[in-house]
Amino acid sequence: MSASGKPLLGLWLYRSGENWDTKTEVPIQEAIELAQPKEEKNKQATKELERISIIFSLKNQVGGLVRALQAFQDLGINVLHIESRTSNTAENESDFFVDIECDVQQLEQVGTLLRREVKTMVIGSYQNRGNEFSPPIPLSATTSFDFEDMPWFPKRIQDIDLAQNVLRYGSALDADHPGFKDPIYRERREHFARIANNHKYGKPIPQVQYTQEEIKTWGTVFRELHKRYQKHACKEYLENWPQLVKYCGYREDNIPQLQDVNIFLKRKTGFQLRPVAGYLSPRDFLSGLAFRLFHCTQYIRHSSDPFYTPEPDCCHELLGHMPLLANPKVPGILYKSWCLTNNLRYCFGQLYFFTIEFGLCKQNGEMKVYGAGLLSSVAELEYAISHPEKISRFDPNVTCKQECIITSYQLGYWYTDSFEEAKEKMRAYAEGIQRPFGIRYNPYTQSVEALSNEQKIEAVVSELRGDLCIVNSALKKISERDANLDIHRFDDLLRTGLKIQGEEGDETTQE
Ligand SMILES: [Fe+2]
Repeated sequence: MSASGKPLLGLWLYRSGENWDTKTEVPIQEAIELAQPKEEKNKQATKELERISIIFSLKNQVGGLVRALQAFQDLGINVLHIESRTSNTAENESDFFVDIECDVQQLEQVGTLLRREVKTMVIGSYQNRGNEFSPPIPLSATTSFDFEDMPWFPKRIQDIDLAQNVLRYGSALDADHPGFKDPIYRERREHFARIANNHKYGKPIPQVQYTQEEIKTWGTVFRELHKRYQKHACKEYLENWPQLVKYCGYREDNIPQLQDVNIFLKRKTGFQLRPVAGYLSPRDFLSGLAFRLFHCTQYIRHSSDPFYTPEPDCCHELLGHMPLLANPKVPGILYKSWCLTNNLRYCFGQLYFFTIEFGLCKQNGEMKVYGAGLLSSVAELEYAISHPEKISRFDPNVTCKQECIITSYQLGYWYTDSFEEAKEKMRAYAEGIQRPFGIRYNPYTQSVEALSNEQKIEAVVSELRGDLCIVNSALKKISERDANLDIHRFDDLLRTGLKIQGEEGDETTQE
């Protein structure tokens, strides 16, 4: 039985594109009720191999998955694909999805073996559906297989639900955490962890009723930081404050709700928020950024020390990050971190840390801050600004080698002459990454595509040509009423934005 009390064996399993869905009350023609094997089925058993998909959930027992998979091996069944997915029927649980090739007799046998190990199971076949469904796409033919043998990474924005590896804190605090000895605070953290762990992409982020103590902590941090922003924050940060106050309730006596900020950001820059329970792995955090999805904590630091937290909290996210995420000039600095090797991901993580978290830039001859780690820490903001000898010129190849300090001040900080310079340097760094194929984010499907053959590139070029026609038409209209419009500037931008084969055969590349 499923968690909802409905029998899973009667579900209708079908495939739509890359999504698996289940619907109740429409039995699939080939769904096999293994709990009641029938003589007739045995008589019809043939050695003809059939492509079968099985989705199962495990009982809560150690080694359950190993024993379940052993069943396929013991019967000599060819497993074509296996993956885990967040359960559609039970919160905090995973379903395992296996594509196999076997005959009817093997299917009966594996069903019997699996039934001992699994809690729920659905079996579906692709054959003999007539015109009821469109022909299924074999998993091996889907775009994910264009990525050859790269380690798994999210290819669709929904896949981020599967990339939620919290490394520290969350609902289990370390002994040196200021809230470790406070049972009420720990209970509160468990509440926030449940919200984050149960969240699914596309669902609204639940509203939180913050306590008076939490609001007081927020107010203390807000007040002290706000005094310093006019002097130290970069202009890109300050530009969005009035709108955050107006649309998201940024006030000393109110902790803004993530869902309000989420809606605001989506309209401003396309960024979306996702609640997270604690310190996410760099891999999963960077994966989110690649889809313009920002993992955001919803809990607040312990009230015993409003100016110290060993981990990101909502003061850090809301005061440090959100004003810049709402600025259309900023997202370009957030890197395309799809399918990176571990080494490269490490370097990108370092660069993210020393720019988006601790970066500075010069504006009108003054050093200004855009890093969220500095803009959410009164003490470190003052420290960085008052120690110019610790601030060096940003160079991705050098910066990526500096150690990140989590619970104390950084050993050094990095600046650029402008915000644009930081973006350009990061872009140049990203272009140097060697991948076996071109990768593109498709904003319409919110998925990653490998440009692995001529047809796919042709489709993208066709789309680009459509956009260029729109740009051309707009430039023409503006130039008719504005003689000062510098069309050559746009022409140069377009030319340098294309991949150009030089006369000597050298390549310059830009995305
Ligand atoms: Fe941060």
